[in-house]
Amino acid sequence: MDLELRNKVAVVTGGSKGIGLATAHLLAREGARVLITARGEAALANAVREIKAEGSGEVDAIAADVAIPADLDRVTAFAKDRFGRVDILVNNAGTGTYKPFLEVTDEDLEYGMAINFFAQFRLSQRIVPIMIDAGGGVIINVSGRTAYQAANPPGSTCTGPAKAAELRFTTDLAEELRPQNIRVNCVVPGVVITPDRFEKWEREAAGNDYDETIALARREKIIAESGPWGDAWQVAETIVYLASARASYVNGESLLVDGANKQSYTRIIRNYEG
Ligand SMILES: NC(=O)c1ccc[n+]([C@@H]2O[C@H](COP(=O)([O-])OP(=O)(O)OC[C@H]3O[C@@H](n4cnc5c(N)ncnc54)[C@H](OP(=O)(O)O)[C@@H]3O)[C@@H](O)[C@H]2O)c1
Repeated sequence: MDLELRNKVAVVTGGSKGIGLATAHLLAREGARVLITARGEAALANAVREIKAEGSGEVDAIAADVAIPADLDRVTAFAKDRFGRVDILVNNAGTGTYKPFLEVTDEDLEYGMAINFFAQFRLSQRIVPIMIDAGGGVIINVSGRTAYQAANPPGSTCTGPAKAAELRFTTDLAEELRPQNIRVNCVVPGVVITPDRFEKWEREAAGNDYDETIALARREKIIAESGPWGDAWQVAETIVYLASARASYVNGESLLVDGANKQSYTRIIRNYEG
């Protein structure tokens, strides 16, 4: 099946690791020209090297923090100068803060919105004019299952609403941009195994008692006992399908990718007694 992604220009935020990196790999394998962004330069350089080593497509990188509007201006200008167009925008970068409601600070609340919903809104607002000039495009927002499920993970009062806003943003934007031939969809991962995120959750659960060897052994046991859990590639495949011409009549949708495994790794690790 031809996904018709050859020579398409794609911008992927959070493209140096996890779901974003897997997405960048798959887009490049389909012959797309990919621009990845993230904050850390070393990881970006590694990602570019990895993707180039596969020998397909084309990949470039620019360091940027999606929570900083001026950085989003730089990403947009870079994409325009380098490629002259953007066909696909994957708003993937994002993260969660999980703590009891009364412990959420104003900073947590504002950052939760800034890195998730505001970042998707702001970058889309910058890239859409370029898409309109080129006659159309595709936007894929990456949300998370916490958008639907109360207390999953526990302490989601800050992140859950920020991720839920991304779903609603998707439906509104799809409706508004339909006449401009721009499709907007959302991918909603359940728990997928990305090492950085798992380590973050394990550190939060263990606090001062964190021990890497113990944490890794527990992780292995939990994964074996409570799976199957997904991986970044399975989410990336869904993103790439939605970006492709094979999803040309899918618009304004939010697609849950969780293998029907409704468990929360954060909840399991916090209650772990094995
Ligand atoms: N993994 C899961 O189980 C899961 C579940 C539900 C939803 N999601 C969603 O899926 C998306 C990707 O998650 P992931 O698990 O693949 O994450 P990950 O493995 O932790 O990778 C995150 C990527 O985003 C970049 N990033 C983080 N903060 C950034 C910022 N402020 N500005 C620019 N880039 C930033 C990171 O690089 P730098 O740190 O160098 O910037 C990295 O490239 C997120 O929106 C997340 O909420 C993931």
